[in-house]
Order: sequence, then structure tokens, then C-alpha cells
Amino acid sequence: MSVNVFRLAYVDFLSKKPGSMVEYYTDTMGYRITEEKDGITYLSNGYDHHNIVITPSDKNAVRSYGYQLDGKLSLDEVQNQILAQGVEARILEDAKPGVSRLVELNDPAGNTIELFTDIDQPAVGFSGSGISPLKLGHVAFLANNYEDTIHFYRDVLGFTFTDKIGESFANFLTCNMDHHVLNIIAANETRLHHIAFQLKDASHQYAASDLLAKHGRSIIWGPSRHTAGSNIATYHRDPDENVVELYTDMDVYLPELGIFEPRPWHSEMPYKPKVWEGLSVWGTEFQVDLAKI
Ligand SMILES: [Fe+2]
Repeated sequence: MSVNVFRLAYVDFLSKKPGSMVEYYTDTMGYRITEEKDGITYLSNGYDHHNIVITPSDKNAVRSYGYQLDGKLSLDEVQNQILAQGVEARILEDAKPGVSRLVELNDPAGNTIELFTDIDQPAVGFSGSGISPLKLGHVAFLANNYEDTIHFYRDVLGFTFTDKIGESFANFLTCNMDHHVLNIIAANETRLHHIAFQLKDASHQYAASDLLAKHGRSIIWGPSRHTAGSNIATYHRDPDENVVELYTDMDVYLPELGIFEPRPWHSEMPYKPKVWEGLSVWGTEFQVDLAKI
């Protein structure tokens, strides 16, 4: 049996403006605070103890990405399997509120990964104000060790390849039925490219853009339909200047068939993982080049 994660559960941000970030996630994004401890704020999308963590810092960065395991292996077995593949992995007890036990490791790009089976689920509900996304859906990061990082997520954590943009520009991977949970972008540095939240439909997308405008946050790219994933996306910046994507209509991957569920907007049938050129199906060019942010 192999190590298998099935979702991205949380992103823990280091923040130079933690007050503004918490205000953004509560007032604009509609997240709820579940706990504040040692100056760190834990925010929920409605069910889990946290899906976003804001940790005060003298820099803006991602402190860790939290992935939930399918639970078929114990955490000790997970640690042993990862160690057997030559990757350092530590078990932490009481590492953070809401997650009593986790395996911490680093991917080849240098990101800190936290793997756990159980997270507290206080089920605080959706706030009913702000954007209130359905969920945290994926992250995209620049990786300075591109090929090794892709292999790590596929071979060590059980991700599946779904698409590429260019032969070696961006690689999309999933650990569930969403087209991508990870978008790894080749670079000579490692940092977050964007974090992405799923909206329910197109009307939610319009309402979200109106809300962002009310809160003084401009759309920097979109709306447009992406090539890889078919998601209709807009992008804006949070108070720490992290790029945030809001999307709907992402392709649904059927691993048993190796195809994406057919959609009216697909250009081919069956729709299979492939190499794309460009970012937008609609061909629109925006002032901000998303490939270079
Ligand atoms: Fe994205």
C-alpha cells in the first residue's frame, strides 16, 4: 500500500500584515475564525478547524501546505514509507491546533509539507457574508527543482499527472477528481504563484468580482477560461500581495478512464491529459501576464 493524499486541506501563510490578512479572509473572503493562539489565526471555510492559517512574520511566504491522507496507512507507516524513498520525514505531536499529529517533510523545491489523517471539524458553517468559496481548491507554486518536485508528488505522495503547459513550463497534478490540486511551475526560485478557491457558478463569479471591487481589490487577470483545467478564473491580490484565483467549471478527472468528464466547451472527445500552449482558451490577452507574475 502506498502513501496517498486526497486533498489540500490548508495553507499556512507567514504574513507581514497579519491584521489585514485576517480582515481580508473574514470580511472579503467570508472565512470564519476558529481559533487564535500565540498570535496565529486559524480560519475555516465552514467545516475544518482551518483551511487558512495566518502566522505573523517579518516576511510574506507560505509556511506550510497541509495535505490530508486517505488514512489507509498509520502515520508511522507513512513516515516509514517516505523515509524508505530517501526523503526525511518527522512525526510531530501537538504541532498545531486542530491537528494533533502530523508528518512534516520538505519537497525537493524546499516547501514544507504537513501530512495528517485527522483534522478537527468544528463545522462552523459558511459565514453568509463575503465571497464564501466552496473550498480551497489548489495551489500553484514556482519550483527551483522542477522535475524532481513533480516526481516527488507523483512517486512519494501519490499524485496523478493531468496536463502540462509547454513541455517544461507548468505541470498539473491531482490527488482527487479535480483537474488539479497542484500546479508546479518551472523557475529558478521557489515561491507561491497563486492560491485558488472554488466558486459555485458563474453568478458567484460576478458577485465575487463586485465584492472585491467594494473592498478595493482589482481583478488583475480574467475572467477567462483556462486551457489546462477549463476553469473560468479571475485573479486578484490579497493584502500581502499573494495572487488569489477564484474559479468555477474546473474539469473533473476520471482516473479509471484516464479522461476528463465531457463538457460542451471541450475541443476534443475524449478529453485526455495533454500538453497545452497558452493559458486562455478564449485567446484574450490581459495587461498582466499571468505566466510572469
Ligand atoms: Fe490556478
